[in-house]
Amino acid sequence: MSAPEPAPSALSMSPIPLIEGAAIDGMAAYRALVDEARRDPEAFWARLAREHLDWKQPFTRTLDSSHAPFFKWFDDGLLNASYNCLDRHLENGGASRTAIVFEADGGELTTLTYGELHARVCRVANALRARGVRRGDRVMIYLPMSIEGVVAMQACARIGAPHSVVFGGFSAKSLHERMADVGACVLITADEQVRGGRHLPLKTIADEALAMGCGDTVHTVIVYRRTGGAIPWHAGRDVWLHELEATQSATCEPEWVDAEHPLFILYTSGSTGTPKGVQHSTGGYLLWAALTMKWTFDIRASDVFWCTADIGWITGHSYICYGPTAAGATQMIFEGVPTWPNAGRFWQMIERHKVSIFYTAPTAIRSLMKAAQADPDVHPARYDLGSLRLLGTVGEPINPEAWRWFAAQVGGGRCPVLDTFWQTETGGHMIAPLPGVTPLVPGSCTLPLPGIEAAIVDETGRDVPDGHGGLLVIKRPWPSMLRTVWGNPARYRAGYFPEELGGKLYLAGDGAIRDSESGYFTITGRVDDVLNVSGHRMGTAEIESALAAHPQVAEAAVVGRPDATTGEAIVAFVVLKGPCPLDGDAQRVADELRTWIGREIGPIAKPREIRFGEAMPKTRSGKIVRRLLRSVAKGEAIEQDTSTVENPAVIAQFSKAA
Ligand code: PRX
Repeated sequence: MSAPEPAPSALSMSPIPLIEGAAIDGMAAYRALVDEARRDPEAFWARLAREHLDWKQPFTRTLDSSHAPFFKWFDDGLLNASYNCLDRHLENGGASRTAIVFEADGGELTTLTYGELHARVCRVANALRARGVRRGDRVMIYLPMSIEGVVAMQACARIGAPHSVVFGGFSAKSLHERMADVGACVLITADEQVRGGRHLPLKTIADEALAMGCGDTVHTVIVYRRTGGAIPWHAGRDVWLHELEATQSATCEPEWVDAEHPLFILYTSGSTGTPKGVQHSTGGYLLWAALTMKWTFDIRASDVFWCTADIGWITGHSYICYGPTAAGATQMIFEGVPTWPNAGRFWQMIERHKVSIFYTAPTAIRSLMKAAQADPDVHPARYDLGSLRLLGTVGEPINPEAWRWFAAQVGGGRCPVLDTFWQTETGGHMIAPLPGVTPLVPGSCTLPLPGIEAAIVDETGRDVPDGHGGLLVIKRPWPSMLRTVWGNPARYRAGYFPEELGGKLYLAGDGAIRDSESGYFTITGRVDDVLNVSGHRMGTAEIESALAAHPQVAEAAVVGRPDATTGEAIVAFVVLKGPCPLDGDAQRVADELRTWIGREIGPIAKPREIRFGEAMPKTRSGKIVRRLLRSVAKGEAIEQDTSTVENPAVIAQFSKAA
């Protein structure tokens, strides 16, 4: 953990006008909320939790800090997440309101009202109960982007069974590890996933994962028939989703759970070790998902909301499955990829469905910008994007050039661009512009949301002056924060509330800088060994241990290199057990290692480049000198002091890509 260098502080405001009549209307209204939260944080959060969630039994305690940093919020209140996302919207004609418009890879549409969504969720919830799933049992979900994905998650929530969703791009081994760690009893998957015209065999991968040793805990595999393609089948264990649904009632009494009951466990990468199961609560998490839909997205009845994330990531949890439904909104869900059949797909879909709020990742914006610059046919100017009123980005820093292009070419200079900073662990937005409040600055996520006490500190936990880079921390607990790392409370405490900072500050793991005039935050990137490639979070340690597991590999080190499109690119340095491979042979071994990583973790973790050397550059005490490898990966001339490196000659070897 090291604090980043200070960055220049001159921020230039964008001329994009604010939205009038927004949920938080004007800077004075924002300041009033910030002040209310500072004066009496518990009263502030209690008021919001009463106003924004329906409680079966009201809570009387707002925050229990007696076992900090294991905080409890609203813990004697009873509620159900699925009830709050579905049932409460059904009255007064709400049942016929559109909940989801689903566009398949090939363009086919399916529309579902809140009434229909409620019925499907109830049927699947009843089916899970019929298969013996009870409150607290964990259900694994390995599904493509689909209505069924949302139905499965909501069905789990309805019966108080925490779900754990694994992104469809992860390998059998990754799925197996997560399934074993969480101790799942049911797996919900699909026969195949369809993306960019290609079919991917999800059920086959799921079976492989089960064969690795979860067979004794997972007693049921529920399969959504997406394509009807041929798949392996285990009679007795495997059941079709549509067959289960057909036999079940369309009503289902929700399981009323206390607010602290885990809603889900979502695995994410840390700087060391295996991925950790980030555990979220029901009450606090849902409050923030619902509230940020209102505060950040200013969601209205007339909106068509579209978040392009996958349900396998936190963004898909908070801003597809839970936030939009808790807000009773109409949303788009898309199965495919932005570049198929061509790079105009997103713009065509915004035009077709009159999307008004569009939330996506900087990597997608950068690649579509490049495509549009090369081919006028896929330029946003070719499409009618007049329905848009708000744009949002998430997952990685957005460079000012991409921000400006997005604002001008997609938003027509009318739509605020909301650069939302948050994490799997924070449950929802932490630092983000509000469309009726915050003058925008390209590249800055601007101000913390009311109630979020973001600050920047040095390595001892002391505040740094504005204009100086430091570590981003959150000083007070907030309702949607993670509750623990599943099965590993020590890792939660040590990782997020480190003793070096005094044990009381939530450490985000990102560097940040605050502008002295505006108070705006700019995120400067991770300060630990976590990489962000196309907005996908990956630990260098995970990729290194996957490489080291290959029979030919003696040692491996992985670093990130800045990349104009994907934010960062993975560069791996490898020492083989045998001799260092030469030219053509190096290429062959590198390809083999890439395929290996695809199988060990998933295609998203494949290194962009693999370089070979005879030994790792190490200090005399045996530590790999990563700062040197980072420079080598960037192609920089090595001007750093290498006197502490025991074997500086290997640096020249590593300077050549395979
Ligand atoms: O480094 C930050 C980056 O993504 C990390 C969190 O990744 P994950 O848990 O996968 O959640 C991504 C979606 C919320 C952060 O630690 N990050 C996320 N949003 C931004 C960002 N970096 C800069 N600007 C952002 N808006």
